[in-house]
Amino acid sequence: MNERQSPARRVASHARHTHPLQSALDLFAPPRPVRRARSAAFAVLFCAFALYIAWHASQETATRPVDELPLAAAHGEGPASAAGAAVAAVNARPDIVQRGEYLTRVGDCAACHTADPARPFAGGLPISTPFGRIYTPNITPDTDTGIGQWSDADFMRAMHEGIRKGGERLYPAFPYVEFTRVSGQDVQAIRAYLKTLAPIHATPPANELHFPFNQRWLMQLWNLFNFEEGRFVPDPQKSAEYNRGAYLVRGLAHCEECHTPRNLTQGLKKSERFSGATQAGWQAYNITPDRAGGIGGWSDDALASYLTTGVATGHANAAGPMAAVVQNSTQYLTPEDLRSIGVFLRAQPAVAGGVTRSRDSFGQPANDDITTLRGTRITAVDGVQLFVANCASCHNWTGAGVGASAPGAYPSLIHNSVAGAASAGNLAMVILHGVTRRTRDADVLMPGFGSQLSNDQIAAIANYVTKTFGNPQAAITADQVAALRAQPQ
Ligand code: HEC
Ligand code: HEC
Ligand code: HEC
Repeated sequence: MNERQSPARRVASHARHTHPLQSALDLFAPPRPVRRARSAAFAVLFCAFALYIAWHASQETATRPVDELPLAAAHGEGPASAAGAAVAAVNARPDIVQRGEYLTRVGDCAACHTADPARPFAGGLPISTPFGRIYTPNITPDTDTGIGQWSDADFMRAMHEGIRKGGERLYPAFPYVEFTRVSGQDVQAIRAYLKTLAPIHATPPANELHFPFNQRWLMQLWNLFNFEEGRFVPDPQKSAEYNRGAYLVRGLAHCEECHTPRNLTQGLKKSERFSGATQAGWQAYNITPDRAGGIGGWSDDALASYLTTGVATGHANAAGPMAAVVQNSTQYLTPEDLRSIGVFLRAQPAVAGGVTRSRDSFGQPANDDITTLRGTRITAVDGVQLFVANCASCHNWTGAGVGASAPGAYPSLIHNSVAGAASAGNLAMVILHGVTRRTRDADVLMPGFGSQLSNDQIAAIANYVTKTFGNPQAAITADQVAALRAQPQ
């Protein structure tokens, strides 16, 4: 494509001289209206694709659990090494590097840039799209295969403009749409931290993208519609906390990549920011301050607890991509930053989305289902029976859970956002894939039932759970479970 001249250039070159080869090429070129129609179709196709990648990227990668190990392992501070020595090593590092490590966690860089936990930041994690796969690059300081040869300016340009060393455009699977808002100082700190990593020699597999989607220069077109280059500018009318929250949520922490719905061209819908979106089968819920549709009923402490531990008792537990975000990123945030995130989110326009009762307000303990089971014949697909057989050992047959709010408790399904949501999608995803989340407080594990239970059975359990402990309006069919099962995680 790039060697083909534009019609304007072609006319110009005709006027000057007509090289025999040029006239031959022109003979083979399709007539102009056809060319125009083709390029229009091509542009539309391309936009759909590029936006699709952006949309999928954070989902795909964030669902892969990567615990805090990579950062420690990168410095040879494995669990085996003496804690004292590790602390001393950390303290000996200059401030900028320590700040860079913190910011690297806020940006969740390790989650996407680590395929093998033993090779942190060495890239190679596949990001699947219907057009093929993108593999994340090695961002360790290795000079052959990593970014060891990059200047600080190259790094800055990648983060702020989505352009890699050498001038090639990066795909928006790399969240430069948000990273462009990060201050130059913070990008430098991240860079300083990445420079201290052990270089790892590793070349990720080549992207498996088909023509025309392998044409990086086409990202210019995508950027035209969906990318506003520029640093975050604080709003002087607002508090310092608000501005810090805005900087984190809309910048480095890229919360909107998952929580904001997208328009027809797959750009973020500015008018419905944070009102919820579905990706890779999971619903990243509405987190606007609407009391019914969003999280307006949560206290600041509840939000901070959710982002630190993955549990907001009486509201929600973090599963799927959000469990990964908590594990890799938000659990490390300082109390001040967590508070700022709350202040900023609370100040966003509330979006109800047609919801009249909050997700976390549903349910009461079951009181007689278990007795009605006595003497009944066990059939294959019965929600109560399947629940008692598969779930009650941990969540209790009453649905009230075991261990209340202790870290690692088996949570109550009553006043749980997944059971009370208007759609039972995340509930089915939780049953299919379970919950894995490692934080400083607890190693949380709910087994997935995807390999043991059929779509019929999962739908029956989900429908029993929503009817009994959650939102009775929410129902799911076996076909819908099958569609969710097919989503790559
Ligand atoms: C949601 C996943 C994701 C996150 C989070 C992420 N990246 Fe990336 N990054 C990618 C992908 C995918 C690419 C490659 C895009 C391409 O091939 O065009 C990439 C490319 C890059 C590049 C260009 C490397 C090269 O060789 O061209 C740099 C530098 C980079 N990322 C740094 C970071 C840093 C620093 C962070 C954290 C602040 C980060 N990334 C967070 C997915 C991610
Ligand atoms: C990779 C995608 C992704 C990113 C990035 C992400 N989230 Fe989430 N978030 C989700 C998903 C999916 C859920 C639903 C989790 C579940 O069902 O357990 C969720 C749930 C939540 C909830 C609970 C809502 C409820 O009612 O259950 C809050 C609060 C939240 N996210 C806040 C944030 C904040 C703040 C950020 C940025 C720091 C963020 N999220 C970044 C995907 C994401
Ligand atoms: C071995 C114990 C165990 C079994 C069996 C089990 N769970 Fe769980 N469940 C857990 C744990 C642990 C969590 C996560 C707790 C946390 O987030 O801290 C959880 C979380 C949940 C959640 C909340 C997820 C969210 O994102 O808010 C739901 C809903 C749920 N389980 C439903 C079920 C259903 C339905 C079954 C049966 C098919 C089941 N569980 C079986 C232990 C179990």
